[in-house]
Amino acid sequence: MHRRHFLAAAAAVTVLPLARPSAALLDGEPRRIDILPSQAQLLAEGPVTKIWGYDGLTPGPVLRIRQRDRLVVEAVNGLAEPTTIHWHGLRLPNAMDGVPGLTQNAIQPGETFRYEFAPPDAGTFWYHPHFKTSEQMGRGLFGALIVEEPDPPAVDRELLWVLSDWRLDAEGQIAPDFAEPFDQAHDGRIGPVITLNGQEPGEVAVTAGERLRLRLVNAAEARIFVLAFDGHAPLVIARDGQPCQPHAPDGGLVWLGPGMRADLILDAAGKPGERFQVVDHRNDKHPRPLLTLAYGQGGILRESPLDAPMALTANPLPRPDLANAAPLELVFAGGMGMAMHGMSGDGGHTMGLPWTVNGLAMDHDPAGMNHTAPLFNLALGRTYRLAMTNQSDWWHPIHLHGMHMLALDPTGQPDPRGLWLDTVLLPPQGRAEVALVADNPGRWMLHCHVIQHQEAGMAAVLAVA
Ligand code: C2O
Ligand code: CU
Repeated sequence: MHRRHFLAAAAAVTVLPLARPSAALLDGEPRRIDILPSQAQLLAEGPVTKIWGYDGLTPGPVLRIRQRDRLVVEAVNGLAEPTTIHWHGLRLPNAMDGVPGLTQNAIQPGETFRYEFAPPDAGTFWYHPHFKTSEQMGRGLFGALIVEEPDPPAVDRELLWVLSDWRLDAEGQIAPDFAEPFDQAHDGRIGPVITLNGQEPGEVAVTAGERLRLRLVNAAEARIFVLAFDGHAPLVIARDGQPCQPHAPDGGLVWLGPGMRADLILDAAGKPGERFQVVDHRNDKHPRPLLTLAYGQGGILRESPLDAPMALTANPLPRPDLANAAPLELVFAGGMGMAMHGMSGDGGHTMGLPWTVNGLAMDHDPAGMNHTAPLFNLALGRTYRLAMTNQSDWWHPIHLHGMHMLALDPTGQPDPRGLWLDTVLLPPQGRAEVALVADNPGRWMLHCHVIQHQEAGMAAVLAVA
């Protein structure tokens, strides 16, 4: 069947809007981004919602750039309060990291800040503010950044799914409860309305036999997604932007804590007219359908899966010297139970904040933040083994800026899948070990990406010099 017929058939299905298209940025050519109050049709049926957006959009424009080209963004603050842009997962110079009070001064209303760096790694990344993050991200400020490989794997289509969630009031407007002590001491500010590329998801049209590359971004402030692709067997080809051994996700479930990304290869193995759900299993007892993969009636693109390599070319990551690694212990604690008894006044460090890293709670100065001394000073070029222990009964996606961490298995050897993470999802009372090469000089944030935990103390600074 001629290709045009497939497209026509696919178009007959209600199509979920693709992520906002945008042309690839040109090497070194400035791209202006206006950070603005605006509005968006988040709800499939319901009123328009007032949001804040990059170029007035939520998610913001998809920024695409070729690996090693220079990305230049002129961020124009059209809000009535300061902001910054943090480039989540990018290995960039410290001054471009977007952390107010630590790597730059916040961009004041009406001001412009020029971000400029050349991403060394191809992959799926994203951007968001690092100032009053709970409110600014919660009002819609986040977007995807795709760094293109020179030699991407052969696929028929690439889909980007930027996932988020929202707390809306009865009028469909964003509830302004961004710093509720209850949310801070529990699971964070989880909203019941889930959006994919800024809309409540319905159907995604697929054609039998096609090979898809799915780029998943969890841009929610606190919600963990645990996705199953009924009737399909996707393979994970990258985690947090970094290529890994193509592998089936454990138990068929793709875990995405806040801030995390996964790139999947999904062969559309269904038949014309079939429908399959993508289901969120975060709540085991009540799996929640996220969307439907709707096969067009029109035909079959190919009878058997595309016979082409899936693995991505490795990025130029530093090689950990595990034999000479220095150990670092990170202990994450707090939450409901701790917050209410005993923590405040504890040596004067925690100031009543419910979460700590190694017993210390980072306070966020409302006019900036992060005037905290580094928790650890790392020697430039040295390999460290970070043992992370969660002493709380809550989940914590622990994010490190500026460097990626190589996942180690329980024996202390690299996980055979070759997972380089910028965010490590720690289960309640769980433990994880990772290795990192301190190859990027500067002061870098390490924090829980449940933004309400971050803002209520679970953050620290690692200095590399
Ligand atoms: Cu995506 Cu410090 O964060
Ligand atoms: Cu947390």
